[in-house]
Amino acid sequence: MTRLDLEAVRTAYRRQAASYDYMFGLVSRAGRRRAVAAVNTLPGDRVLEVGVGTGLALPYYTAGKRVTGIDLSTEMLARARARVASQGLTQVESLLERNAEATDFPNASFDIAVSMFVASVVPNPRALLAELRRVVRPGGHILFVNHFVAASGPRRAIEHGLAPLSRALGWHPDFAVSDLFGQDDPPGVTFSPVPPAGIFTLVHVRR
Ligand SMILES: C[S@@+](CC[C@H](N)C(=O)[O-])C[C@H]1O[C@@H](n2cnc3c(N)ncnc32)[C@H](O)[C@@H]1O
Repeated sequence: MTRLDLEAVRTAYRRQAASYDYMFGLVSRAGRRRAVAAVNTLPGDRVLEVGVGTGLALPYYTAGKRVTGIDLSTEMLARARARVASQGLTQVESLLERNAEATDFPNASFDIAVSMFVASVVPNPRALLAELRRVVRPGGHILFVNHFVAASGPRRAIEHGLAPLSRALGWHPDFAVSDLFGQDDPPGVTFSPVPPAGIFTLVHVRR
């Protein structure tokens, strides 16, 4: 898989910021709702949302959570900030321009980290996972919702066919579970397909 670099990510989401909610918001809504519903049931109130984007998920957190959102893209964050202000989302504590692979937060700063449609975008998904393990306290939880390349069949062929467009799309259509976890079955990790279409998967990692 050819990786996107940080500048390619910034460029892609600078271009997409204005249209993102219309182009991608609806198709991914079920995954976002499912992930935040899971976050809301977990113990602990300190939540880190990485790659918060335009903040589409922010209204779904219950008032008992305290959410920090980070993103690389100034333009996506500006939209998230406007959403927080216009909807009065008091559960959002801060929105910061930071790299999810190297956040600068102290160890164990959060009870839960959640990454929605970001693992297939970041330059180094395993560095993202390692960073989330570092900033989530032992016993905490890390959730991903993402598209993963199909194991076989026509969908896999299409996803591999789209892979050369990764830079323009701003994500990797051929992103595989092994790109995040390596080749071995990861211990303490559960995978649940997100209905209705099952294109996205919710991944739960016990820290
Ligand atoms: C597909 S969008 C998902 C946005 C949001 N999570 C959602 O559910 O709509 C990917 C987001 O990840 C951000 N991103 C990509 N790489 C990043 C990184 N290394 N650090 C922080 N944010 C990153 C992009 O700027 C973009 O806003």
